[in-house]
Amino acid sequence: MQTSPHGIPLIGLGTYPLMGDEAVATVRMALEVGYRHIDTAQMYGNEKFVGQGIAKSEVARDEIFLVTKVDPGNVGAGRFEETVQRSVDDLGTVPDLLLIHWPPAESEFDAVVDRLVYAKARGWAKAIGVSNHTPSMMKRAQERAEGALICNQVEFHPLLDQKKTLATAKALNMTLTAYSPIARGAALKAQAVQEIAVRHGRPASEIVLRWIVQQGVAAIPKTAKRENAVSNLNALTFELTADDMKAISAHGSTKGRTINPSWMSGRWES
Ligand SMILES: NC(=O)c1ccc[n+]([C@@H]2O[C@H](COP(=O)([O-])OP(=O)(O)OC[C@H]3O[C@@H](n4cnc5c(N)ncnc54)[C@H](OP(=O)(O)O)[C@@H]3O)[C@@H](O)[C@H]2O)c1
Repeated sequence: MQTSPHGIPLIGLGTYPLMGDEAVATVRMALEVGYRHIDTAQMYGNEKFVGQGIAKSEVARDEIFLVTKVDPGNVGAGRFEETVQRSVDDLGTVPDLLLIHWPPAESEFDAVVDRLVYAKARGWAKAIGVSNHTPSMMKRAQERAEGALICNQVEFHPLLDQKKTLATAKALNMTLTAYSPIARGAALKAQAVQEIAVRHGRPASEIVLRWIVQQGVAAIPKTAKRENAVSNLNALTFELTADDMKAISAHGSTKGRTINPSWMSGRWES
């Protein structure tokens, strides 16, 4: 599997909102068809099921890149250590990457980065990073962590302009991971995506995922369907032209967010 310079496989499986037996079976199915990167979070309530899917698969643990995230309600001094250790227990294994799921409050920002660095030092994660951090937040977090952060997981698809976030990640030696990479279906309808899909004789989803990975960004589409899981991996097997890339990028707008929770109000621009 092709990876980012930080060893993050460029296509992974998103697992929200999979639960119970469906989550276990989907993780097993994804590993069987070739996935080596699985994304979960404390917030999804499915770490235990994801861990079971990995344990029951035929794929060796050290071939899999497993990511989880600390819930915003668990980043405080009183909850961080206990809940991260619970994640390790629920997963049944140490995650390859532990992320802060949403930017902490301004007053707690540095302390939370310190807790993340501490978690790695204690062996509760092999690597650390952040999620939903703006360019200025990434810079602040990476400086505080003295360069230890390898990833920022952000919403990333053709309808959202993330050029500044990507340029900042590259300057800070971090990989971006794209969540909601097909914008829960909305990105498949973009005109350039549709036209290029016809020309390449491929589904629109493969075009969108290819546009992401061709920029060196990892993508974690969620699917519970084997045929979609197999198709999504095909994004690694062909190339778009520079003109194709440009035409798809032209759909991007800074207002194109699918996920925009109230607690980020006024903070995306920072
Ligand atoms: N860090 C964060 O704050 C954050 C926020 C949101 C999400 N995430 C992560 O990112 C993952 C993915 O994001 P998402 O679930 O929001 O959106 P997404 O992956 O863009 O879209 C998921 C939807 O696309 C469908 N789909 C997948 N592959 C397809 C294909 N080849 N053809 C047609 N439809 C396809 C899925 O349906 P089927 O199951 O029917 O295929 C599902 O309904 C999540 O599962 C989660 O792990 C992280």
